[in-house]
Amino acid sequence: MRLLILGDIVGRPGRSFLKTNLEKYRQDNLIDFVIANGENAAGGAGITSKTADEIIASGVDAITLGDHVWDQMNFNHEIDSLESVCRPANLPDSNPGRDRLIIDCEGLKIGIFSVLGRTFMGPKVSCPFLTADRIVSELENNADLIVVEIHAEATSEKEAMGWYLDGRASVVFGTHTHVPTADGRILRHGTAYQSDLGMTGPRESVLGREIDACLGRFIDGMPRKCPVAQEDVGMQGCVVEFAEGKKLPSGFGRIDFRMVH
Ligand SMILES: [Fe+2]
Ligand SMILES: [Fe+2]
Repeated sequence: MRLLILGDIVGRPGRSFLKTNLEKYRQDNLIDFVIANGENAAGGAGITSKTADEIIASGVDAITLGDHVWDQMNFNHEIDSLESVCRPANLPDSNPGRDRLIIDCEGLKIGIFSVLGRTFMGPKVSCPFLTADRIVSELENNADLIVVEIHAEATSEKEAMGWYLDGRASVVFGTHTHVPTADGRILRHGTAYQSDLGMTGPRESVLGREIDACLGRFIDGMPRKCPVAQEDVGMQGCVVEFAEGKKLPSGFGRIDFRMVH
């Protein structure tokens, strides 16, 4: 069983890249299941049912979300109908949407959920550690693999989550910063971990947005729109491999894939 997990899909460039390249990448690399964060899929902020459907048609099996979950105004009315999409699990219970996914793949049940960090993050959420502990305990009874995303700004908070779930989760991965970290590995009790997977989007950018507009915000501080950038599009993430019948991975590798023109 080989899982491909992708960092935040940014706007149309990210979606188009998946549409063009993901099926072939899956075949060439014997990928059985694909998870991607879709919080920036629609215009760079949030997601809609239409963009979620497009991503799934491109070959993604499960979509997670982050702090931008509700940026597209109508999405709170759409999320419940999307069976392959979950919202962060530690949002208030009153929020719509699934707090986890359990999806069958080749006879295995893959349990997936994300939690939002609380350090330098906007949404008011309950403790990501206690939430993760609770959901992992529940998934231990009804999932073969447990995949946990910590969508957070601070590397320390993400790394702490990796150690917290080491040996219980199959994979713990971070998202949100859109810049991949070089610390991907299998931890001492067997969980695969990477602090941030990066993004699926345009890298000639500042975190996926046009360079000049972002620079302007830093230099003169004036508010301005920062449209999604267009150039040097690729996908970043990791591939995690499992031997038959095992909950903990036998292999882990970062991926950084782009088409060279
Ligand atoms: Fe993001
Ligand atoms: Fe985010």
